[in-house]
Amino acid sequence: MYGNHIAGHWVDGTSININVNPSDTRDVIGEYAIASAEQTQDAIAAAKAAQKGWQSFTAEARSDILDEIGNTILARREELGTLLSREEGKTLAEGIGEVVRAGRVFKFFAGEALRLAGERLPSVRPGVEVEVTRHPLGSVGIITPWNFPIAIPAWKIAPALAYGNTVVFKPAGLVPGSAWALTDIITSATGMPPGVFNLVMGQGSVVGECLARSELIDAITFTGSTPVGRGIATLCAERGARVQLEMGGKNPLVVLNDADIDVAISIAVSGGLYSTGQRCTASSRLIVEQGVYDSFVSKLTEATAALEVGNALDPKTDIGPVVSADQLEQDLYYIKKGVEDGGKLEFGGEIIEGKTPGYYLKPAIFSGTSNEMTINRDEVFGPVMSVIEAADYEEALALANATAFGLSAGICTRSLAHAADFRRNAQAGMTMVNLPTAGVDYHAPFGGMKASSYGPREQGSHAREFFTITRTNYMAPGAV
Ligand code: UN1
Repeated sequence: MYGNHIAGHWVDGTSININVNPSDTRDVIGEYAIASAEQTQDAIAAAKAAQKGWQSFTAEARSDILDEIGNTILARREELGTLLSREEGKTLAEGIGEVVRAGRVFKFFAGEALRLAGERLPSVRPGVEVEVTRHPLGSVGIITPWNFPIAIPAWKIAPALAYGNTVVFKPAGLVPGSAWALTDIITSATGMPPGVFNLVMGQGSVVGECLARSELIDAITFTGSTPVGRGIATLCAERGARVQLEMGGKNPLVVLNDADIDVAISIAVSGGLYSTGQRCTASSRLIVEQGVYDSFVSKLTEATAALEVGNALDPKTDIGPVVSADQLEQDLYYIKKGVEDGGKLEFGGEIIEGKTPGYYLKPAIFSGTSNEMTINRDEVFGPVMSVIEAADYEEALALANATAFGLSAGICTRSLAHAADFRRNAQAGMTMVNLPTAGVDYHAPFGGMKASSYGPREQGSHAREFFTITRTNYMAPGAV
């Protein structure tokens, strides 16, 4: 059994989670420990006990540890990428790409650890010195989803550690393999003290809830669904803990008459269907201007039909399986609902048999949908895209914004005026001009508006807003 990592030791769980390959359900990747509430409390206590010591490391010592972790991840990209694709179902190229991104994130924050500058201000009082400094929060609970099994943990763990916090990490139950491997790398880094980083695999209702309720956890960073995120925020607010949430999306991609249609098609396919559409940044609403609507729908259908759906580890595969039986059921529910609500299913939407037994779904393309339909309101989190027709740019923008979410919004156009207007007026944390809504840089801030996010941005130097606390220090003249 692969154990949890608590206070510097691998610890067996109280029950077992069997990790199965969604591309081939006969393939068992391993048995992973499920922690009890008591074990979670042990991990929380260990993180608390280790925090002052970790904070007292020099920035350079923390930087070296993060750099070593980044280098190890990069050196093991093939092996870790294979494990990731095997347990999550994204293609091997995507799996390796994600591992590289995780390695780069650690190396970026190795640099950031050394750049934690403060500010010095002139006082309004003569001779007084005002200095703004940043400090660790303490112990941070990190709760991550299954769709990016190593990159999302990396972009939460690396800044947490860089700025002197200790960590209790709770990964999603569907992807314990990547979490375990990452933990092994982090805890084996030269000079890493026990208790600074703890892995607690288990259920949200047990481990997640303990983290959210514990007075010893100073902050929680979470990526996952909006209802779960809001539940965590409520528990944190009750006890005054800091919280950062990255949640759903229903991301629009606007295609105007003046777009390069072939570019728009490849952007739509990559943003909407790659990683099996299982990204909070996925383009799920394709809002297309009248003049190119028919040609866009037929070209999109053609491009989707050309995609190879199959085993994530087969080099010929473009789209891997859906992650699990439950997720497949959810996708099929929304596809059925799309048809019932009057959308035209142009292509796909049915289960297909692969060479190996897995959760294979032919990507679904709907046309003739309205923005009010359930498939255009709820996050499906699968390879499902729907096309909505717009009379002109103004209507397209209004439709793009008519959603509860606001993570990423894209536009395909050759008009600078429309691109600039979209950047100003799209209600989204990230805007993309002639680029897919999904797939972001690792050193720039990431996050959304409305129901997509809550709290400060993740990633890049902006991560310090969440992972440090600001102190303002006043000193009278002649105090020394
Ligand atoms: C990306 O599109 O590059 O859960 C990243 C998610 C996001 C990450 C998306 N938090 O899909």
